[in-house]
Amino acid sequence: MNEIDQLRTDVLVAVNTATDVAALEATRVDVLGKKGRVTGLMKNLGGMDPEARKIAGQALNTLKTEIEAAINVRRMSLDTAALDAKLANEKMDVTLPIRPEAKGSLHPISQTMDEMAAIFGAMGFMVAEGPDVEDDFHNFTALNFPPGHPAREMHDTFFLPTAPDGNRYLLRTHTSPVQIRTMMSEKAPIRVIIPGRTYRCDYDITHTPMFHQIEGLVIDTETNMSHLKGCLQEFVRTFFGVDDLTIRFRPSYFPFTEPSAEMDIGCSRAGGELKIGNFGDWLEILGCGMVHPNVLRACGLDPEIYQGFAFGIGVERLAMLKYGIPDLRTFFESDLRWLRHYGFATLDVPSLTGGLNR
Ligand code: PHE
Repeated sequence: MNEIDQLRTDVLVAVNTATDVAALEATRVDVLGKKGRVTGLMKNLGGMDPEARKIAGQALNTLKTEIEAAINVRRMSLDTAALDAKLANEKMDVTLPIRPEAKGSLHPISQTMDEMAAIFGAMGFMVAEGPDVEDDFHNFTALNFPPGHPAREMHDTFFLPTAPDGNRYLLRTHTSPVQIRTMMSEKAPIRVIIPGRTYRCDYDITHTPMFHQIEGLVIDTETNMSHLKGCLQEFVRTFFGVDDLTIRFRPSYFPFTEPSAEMDIGCSRAGGELKIGNFGDWLEILGCGMVHPNVLRACGLDPEIYQGFAFGIGVERLAMLKYGIPDLRTFFESDLRWLRHYGFATLDVPSLTGGLNR
């Protein structure tokens, strides 16, 4: 038997008796590696005369291909055997209880905003947003609060130091400035809700310096006060899940709406417990009105052509009512026990406000 045949026999035995992948790899390196036995024989070819080199070269190439094929076959069968062994050993006990996984939950504010947005969304409202840091024009002047108007004082505004451009920026005291921004940037008809943070310098059981509102704005050529009533009635009935919930409008005053109203819903306070429903008592829940012609003018809209309504809803207040949360301040204390109690399990779907509040 010549040298190549001997080598073939040796190597094939080693390959086929390798008991694991590491042994197989060692054999491969020993034969085909840089200093391997076949590689060595190939290096010798250079010193042969052409005829002998041709014959030996072909034989070596064939040998190399054969060995590679044998290694591959062996590797596959070792892999399969390893997998089989693993499958046989690692049995899964499907009766074991799952490990508890720490999952976040939705803050009641986010949950409430999502619910509100879903209801108005179904009525065809789009969502608009604006900045928390506002200027006087958008927060007050364009909303028909003339300079020095007493209604400005009622807003307990946080002012920022006068900016280099001479403006005295402020933290918006309501979401109404986004009405202005929307009317100035969009074409009528407009139908938007505006969820967001608002700020007033106030702190007690029913006031926090930061709170949330959802503003509503509808502008077109036809919309009138009965649409406002119908829209808000539908909203509170859906939100509180009381099909025949009665509503009541009381005249009120906002500089940016005329007429203005405060809307109440039916409730009961019997036994010191607040219940939503038609029990004869009333609870104020939002402010609203028809957009003032001066506001339309400030946004470049002709009040002879355009009209519409606006409303502003306090999100915390609605969350407190719906979910029985007694103290407003607890919303912002970041107490995990509170959140575990009042928070909402997520369905792992992206939430509107989850995005907005980040
Ligand atoms: N912006 C008012 C507030 O914060 C609420 C409101 C909005 C009233 C829209 C009427 C219309 O008190």
